[in-house]
Amino acid sequence: MTELAAPLALPRRDPALIEYLQQRRSAPAQALAAPGPSAADLDAILSIGLRTPDHGKLFPWRLVVLTPDTRAALSHALSPLADDQPDPDKARAVLAKLTAPPVTIMVVSTPVRDHKVPVWEQELSAGALAMNLSHAAFAHGFSASWITDWYAYDPRALSLFGIGEDERIAGFIHIGTLETPPLERPRPDPDRHVAVR
Ligand SMILES: Cc1cc2nc3c(=O)[nH]c(=O)nc-3n(C[C@H](O)[C@H](O)[C@H](O)COP(=O)(O)O)c2cc1C
Repeated sequence: MTELAAPLALPRRDPALIEYLQQRRSAPAQALAAPGPSAADLDAILSIGLRTPDHGKLFPWRLVVLTPDTRAALSHALSPLADDQPDPDKARAVLAKLTAPPVTIMVVSTPVRDHKVPVWEQELSAGALAMNLSHAAFAHGFSASWITDWYAYDPRALSLFGIGEDERIAGFIHIGTLETPPLERPRPDPDRHVAVR
């Protein structure tokens, strides 16, 4: 853990950042293609991801960069498990989301049990980390997709991914480049989802 007392910059209005946040849109994972982040870009994306709020400095998460070779092997091993899913053909088809993208980061929630910080808050932090990784990927000029899919829940799949008893997969952050811009999707009506009291 780094303990630094150096002052950080105060926020300043940043129209480009506002525009990015207003337009950010996930990519379809299977459409993510090369180029992906360079090794230096990936290091920066991971560092930004790790700079995520968490109650109590527990850092209750870990990241695993799944290389293309590892993902190909995992997809091969997961394929027979798809037979036990409610829709085996679809379950097999979505494995393409695991193998197509140039870069994939697995976000694992590793909450500390029996701690005064509730597990719920620690799990929220894993979600925030996933979102930060996604923002970092976009900031470096790539598109990203945060997905889970059935293999984030199947016990035998979890063992293939090396997930421990007390851990959960918060998601896979797939990163790459889209050939065509994504279409907007329906967004919530602020009148229904925001209250002022
Ligand atoms: C925790 C989480 C899990 C998700 N799991 C899946 C999934 O299993 N399959 C899928 O197609 N999309 C999954 N998604 C992605 C969403 O379906 C969708 O692409 C995304 O919310 C689009 O949001 P955006 O347009 O604001 O980027 C998941 C998203 C989140 C946050």
